[in-house]
Amino acid sequence: MGLGMGINLLLLLAMVATNILSLYHLSSSLQNNKPPPTSPPVPDHLLHQLNTIRATINHLTHLRSTSTATATATGTATATSKPSVPSDLLLYAHISPIASACHDHPELLHRFMNYTPFSLCPFDSHLSEALILRGCHPLPRRRCFSPTPPSKPSSSSLSSHDPFPSSLPDSTVSWSSYSSSSCKSFQCLLTKFDGFDMKIESTKFLNTKSELDLSIPQLLQIAKSSASVLRLALDVGAGTGTFAARMKLYNVTVLSTTMNLGAPYSEAIAVRGLVPLHFPLNQRFPIFDGVVDLVRCSHAVNRWIPTTSMEFLFYDVDRVLRGGGYLWLDHFFSKGLDLEKIYMPLIGKLGYKTVKWATGNKTDTSGLKNGEVYLTALLQKPLMK
Ligand SMILES: *[C@@H]1O[C@H](CO)[C@@H](O)[C@H](O)[C@H]1NC(C)=O
Ligand SMILES: *[C@@H]1O[C@H](CO)[C@@H](O)[C@H](O)[C@H]1NC(C)=O
Repeated sequence: MGLGMGINLLLLLAMVATNILSLYHLSSSLQNNKPPPTSPPVPDHLLHQLNTIRATINHLTHLRSTSTATATATGTATATSKPSVPSDLLLYAHISPIASACHDHPELLHRFMNYTPFSLCPFDSHLSEALILRGCHPLPRRRCFSPTPPSKPSSSSLSSHDPFPSSLPDSTVSWSSYSSSSCKSFQCLLTKFDGFDMKIESTKFLNTKSELDLSIPQLLQIAKSSASVLRLALDVGAGTGTFAARMKLYNVTVLSTTMNLGAPYSEAIAVRGLVPLHFPLNQRFPIFDGVVDLVRCSHAVNRWIPTTSMEFLFYDVDRVLRGGGYLWLDHFFSKGLDLEKIYMPLIGKLGYKTVKWATGNKTDTSGLKNGEVYLTALLQKPLMK
C-alpha cells in the first residue's frame, strides 16, 4: 500500500463527504461564503469543512492525474498500481457528468470502473444492473469490449419474423453473464423464470379470464370506437416482450423496457425481433414529450416501488403520452388500504378519463398474506384545455 493508494482513498472519501455536505447548501452561496437572505444560515464549521474538502479534492485530482498519466497512456492502469480511483473514471468525468447517485455507491462504482482499457470487459452485468437500480444511470462509459457469445446463431433460427418462435436460439446469449441461475440454455430457464415458454406466451393478451384482464382485441376496439389511432406504445416492465410481440401482429410498434435481473430478458426480446430498452423504473424515459399513443405498466409496477418514485414515474408517463393517449395499469398491486389511501389519489391527480377500472383480491400466497389487491385500469389522457 503506497502513497498513491492512500491518496486515492482520501480522494474517494472526500468525494463522498462533499456529496453529503452539498445537500446542506447550493454551491453558489458557498462560493460567496455568504448564505442568501431567504434560507436559514449554514453553520460556519460546515462551510469551512466543505471548502477544505473541495480544496483537497482539487489538489488530489491534480496529483492523481499526473501520477496516472503514463499508466493510462499504455493501458496498464490496473496492472501494477491498482488505483482505487480508476483512471478511466477520472477521464470520463472530464467529458460527461456522472449521476450523483453513482457517487453514493463508491464501492460498486469503483468495481464497475475497475477494468483494463482496450481489452475484454469483465463479465459484470450484475454489477451494472446493481448500479442502475440504485439510480446510477446512465452508467459511466467504458473503453472495453463487451463479451459476446462464442458462436453466431444460425441464420435459420433468426430468419423467421414470427415473434412467437417455437424456441429461442441459445446461441444468442452470453451465458457466462448469468452464472447465478446456473442455466446455459433457454430450456433450462422455462421452470425458473416467467416469460420464456413461448407456448404460454402465445396465449397471452388474446382472451379475458376475469375483469382484471384486458385483451388486445378489446383494447383496439376501445381505441377504434373513440377514433384513436394506436401506432406507437411503450411497455414498462415488459418481461420477454410478449405484449410487443402480439401488438406487432397488429402493426403497432412497442418499445419494451426491461432489466435482466439474472435472466436474459433483453436478449429474448431482441431475438423475437422486438426493441428492448435496458431501463429501470426510476429514470426518465428516453423518449420525447407527447409522442406515444399508449403506455402499459405491467405488474412490475407495484407497491414495491417507493411512492415518490411512483409519482415521478406517472408524471413521466404523462410527459411521453400524446393528448388522447392511454395509460394502461395491468395488474398493479398494493395492499388493499393503500390502494384507496395512496394510489387512487396519486392516479387521480393525473386527471385522466377512466375507461376501465377493475379491482380484485390477489389470491396467491403473498397476496393473501399481505392483504393485497390488484387494479387494472385503462385511463385516457385529456387533450390540452
Ligand atoms: C399489417 O400490415 C401489413 C402490411 O402493410 C398488412 O398486410 C396487414 O394486413 C396488417 N395487419 C393488420 C392486422 O392490420
Ligand atoms: C377480498 O378480501 C377481503 C378480505 O381480505 C374480503 O373481505 C372480501 O370478501 C374478498 N373479496 C372477494 C371478492 O373475494
